[in-house]
Amino acid sequence: MITQRPKGTQDWYGPDMYKRTVIEEIARKLCRAYHIKEIITPVFEHTILFQRGVGETTDVVQKEMYTFKDKGNRSITLKPEGTAGAVRAYLENSLYAESQPTKLFYITQAFRYENPQSGRLRQHHQFGVEIFGSASPLAEIEIISLLTEFMKELGLKGVNLYINSIGCKNCRKIYNEVLLDFLKKHEHELCGTCKERMQKNPLRTLDCKVPSCHEIMKNAPRTIDYLDEECKEHFEELKSLLNEMNIAYKEDSGIVRGLDYYTKTVFEFINSEGLTLCGGGRYDNLINEIDGKLDIPAVGFGFGIERIIKELDAEGIELAAEPSVDLYVGILGKESKAAAYRLVKSLRQAGLIVETDYMDRSIKAQMKYANKIGARYTVIIGADELAAGKANIKNMDTGNQVEVDIDKINDFITICE
Ligand code: HAM
Repeated sequence: MITQRPKGTQDWYGPDMYKRTVIEEIARKLCRAYHIKEIITPVFEHTILFQRGVGETTDVVQKEMYTFKDKGNRSITLKPEGTAGAVRAYLENSLYAESQPTKLFYITQAFRYENPQSGRLRQHHQFGVEIFGSASPLAEIEIISLLTEFMKELGLKGVNLYINSIGCKNCRKIYNEVLLDFLKKHEHELCGTCKERMQKNPLRTLDCKVPSCHEIMKNAPRTIDYLDEECKEHFEELKSLLNEMNIAYKEDSGIVRGLDYYTKTVFEFINSEGLTLCGGGRYDNLINEIDGKLDIPAVGFGFGIERIIKELDAEGIELAAEPSVDLYVGILGKESKAAAYRLVKSLRQAGLIVETDYMDRSIKAQMKYANKIGARYTVIIGADELAAGKANIKNMDTGNQVEVDIDKINDFITICE
């Protein structure tokens, strides 16, 4: 037990850690170009934020939150997603008082007590963006366009965009009645949770994971058929902008999202096996629901980093290789240690990736190690080299050796690149 990590968690190291670093670098680079600023919110928040924000009748709140009492008897929850915390921070720090829109991104852990299975973890990581203050479909375009570029840079080809509109509060009122009528006809076939939810929040029955409910919901009325004029217009404008931008999408009335805050646009990026890699949409009422006063529209997405890695592997995509060690500096003799280490330090400051010996290995063992870690060049620094100010640099690929001034090693390696 003591050497076993909790179920549904992952240790990050080796190739997957490197992939994650590259993914995060691409995300950061794109956000810079889109003028989206980074935000880091606490890993835990007051439980009520998620109950109110994510929604009491969602799976996340009802079944999946890591909630506990702290020593001050406050109910605390590890964040199950990034949006509620970002909204809380936007309100608490009065970011709405600055020129709008406010565009934020985060790379965060998220915790959900789910049944660990393929693509479902209890601690996962999300790259997310939230745009506050814009009611225009161009805000959706901004994030969807960023997402398509993100996937292009990663090389992903097997992931498609599915969009839908679930309307606003007004549309929902009418839709809920129609849906409730439908659900009543099937009540005897529904699972216990759906029976409960059909009264409190019928929309949540649509994303029930129980196979028999899922089958019934395929014939449920569609939100898209009950949109009011404004929501219809918003959706039509979004689709025509997507067309003009040449962003491929499919309309799918089955996309309703599993969290309560969405209004109007909802979307998912789904792979060929039906796994959702990214989900998002508009949430024009959430700020008001949390704050009680302000009425500010918003839109955003969350992209699962573990699922990106899974998809990269499934599509056989190799990200740029991790940079290798440029030079291994072998140390010959105790008296050369400080001078050799000074050289290592100055070469690192000049920008090279340099390794040396911390294991008091023999020179033969040091060279074997240099070969093992894939060093491109090696050099041995001993009393003779230090006295002459010259050393032999060996190209580990060709085996060629060249004598170089010790203080010109950086120039030599840089030129050879
Ligand atoms: P979500 O769909 O619940 O949306 O999660 C976003 C993404 O996180 C999913 O598409 C998936 O890739 C990943 N994910 C979720 N749960 C797990 C899990 N248990 N294991 C592995 N990956 C997972 C949200 O969280 C919203 N906050 C997105 C959003 C932002 N909507 C508007 N703004």
